[in-house]
Amino acid sequence: MFMSRLYRVTVLMAFVLCSSVIFAEGPSLGMPITQADMAAWDINILPDGTGLPPGSGTPAQGASVYAAHCAACHGLNGEGGLAAMLVGGEPPTSMGTRKTIANHWPYSSTVFDVIRRSMPFDAPRSLSNDDYYAVVAWILAENNIIDENAVMTAETLSAVRMPNVDRFVFRYPTMIPSDPDRVSRRWLSPEAAAAGVESWYRLRPLDPWQ
Ligand code: HEC
Repeated sequence: MFMSRLYRVTVLMAFVLCSSVIFAEGPSLGMPITQADMAAWDINILPDGTGLPPGSGTPAQGASVYAAHCAACHGLNGEGGLAAMLVGGEPPTSMGTRKTIANHWPYSSTVFDVIRRSMPFDAPRSLSNDDYYAVVAWILAENNIIDENAVMTAETLSAVRMPNVDRFVFRYPTMIPSDPDRVSRRWLSPEAAAAGVESWYRLRPLDPWQ
């Protein structure tokens, strides 16, 4: 059947107008997310320790957390098994050296963040913050990075200096503008820049042969 172009355009316009009225207040699906719901997902911890939760734990407490929740996959003493080695590792002599917490990871706060967000593998985020502090303390102590009697809290964990921290460099050094403000604007979120984060340049492990 013949339908004039004008007629078709008019029908289309009518449909668009009606639907915009109908959907003007949204499709009435879902509900606004609350701050409390957001907080449950907002668990990033920055290299300087920003975002670490309240709580504390010691290596001794961590030994039992480790035995109960980690050893089955990572080995009785962290030597590795079904999953990665968490204690030990050869000194880094080439890019091919197996990367472990002791010989590779630049920030202690990242150890906490990774473990809390993803471990135990079969039940991520199921432990208390105290248990996560304790198991991180155990791993760091077993790697001789902290004293066996050290108490890990947001403050003390942030202050732990990882052995490999200085071997990370910015991947594209020539792209770093000389003006630090431009660096901040270009590479950091405003929140991270305001928090004084600088370590985002350290993106790539240094090749010992370079
Ligand atoms: C059911 C087995 C399982 C259990 C239990 C488990 N993990 Fe893991 N873990 C894994 C697997 C698999 C990976 C590798 C995951 C990946 O690459 O995404 C991993 C990775 C890790 C890593 C990163 C290692 C690296 O060098 O890349 C850390 C750290 C870690 N686990 C710590 C823990 C701690 C601490 C616990 C106990 C609270 C734990 N895991 C419990 C299986 C497990």
